[in-house]
Amino acid sequence: MIFYILTLFPEVFEGYRRASILGRAEEQGQVSMRLVNIRDFARDRHRTCDDYTYGGGAGMVLKPAPLAEALRSIPAVRERAGRGSGEGQEPGARVVYLTPSGRPWSQALAEQAARESEIVLLCGRYEGIDQRIVDAFVTDEISVGDYVLAGGEVAAMVLVDTVVRLVEGVIKAQSLAEESFRQGLLEYPQYTRPAQFEGRRVPEVLLGGDHARIERWRLEQSVAKTLRNRPELLRSRELPSEVAAIMKELEHG
Ligand code: ADE
Repeated sequence: MIFYILTLFPEVFEGYRRASILGRAEEQGQVSMRLVNIRDFARDRHRTCDDYTYGGGAGMVLKPAPLAEALRSIPAVRERAGRGSGEGQEPGARVVYLTPSGRPWSQALAEQAARESEIVLLCGRYEGIDQRIVDAFVTDEISVGDYVLAGGEVAAMVLVDTVVRLVEGVIKAQSLAEESFRQGLLEYPQYTRPAQFEGRRVPEVLLGGDHARIERWRLEQSVAKTLRNRPELLRSRELPSEVAAIMKELEHG
């Protein structure tokens, strides 16, 4: 899978590449992150990439021309741009614009994205990018949370990180099956050696070999944690009867 990242600050991604699953996946040839510096496509003497906003207001906006040229330097974008709206199943890469006004990113969207062969991530800065670029090229506007980052770079790393680990063969299938959000519940607590640390003991059930009891304990812990930290996850869907029973017990004491 190829991630193209359009940014004014490609250097921001290098430390992340070195110290993450991404770096290993790149070495193994499963994934490739290609950094495209938007400034390389600015044609004036000062390589200007931003300008004042029409209509007035604080802040600068990324100019359309360098962005359009940077996008057209990617073959899979040229392929899609020649074919229209960006809705549906056209060939070519999806172009994701990272913006606080986008749709919320989620594990479900990461799972869909992991099935693509190429994705383009467009990082904004300042007040954002010229809307005509969104209209002409962008297939998905995505936010990573209800707060405003100084730019899209950190958000792009969130996307890459969540998708890379779902690309087949990058990490073990069992680790994925067990983790938070997979079954609509948050993950149970984990412990490692020693069994006693600064006066706190690992729960007794985990030290015995009774796998059925361990599974039951983990499910109870997951339900309790989800009720405590993210109750809306439990209210928004049909619950398996086992989970509903644990919830009842917890709610009634
Ligand atoms: N750029 C600035 N803030 C952002 C956010 N919350 N999500 C995605 N991109 C952003």
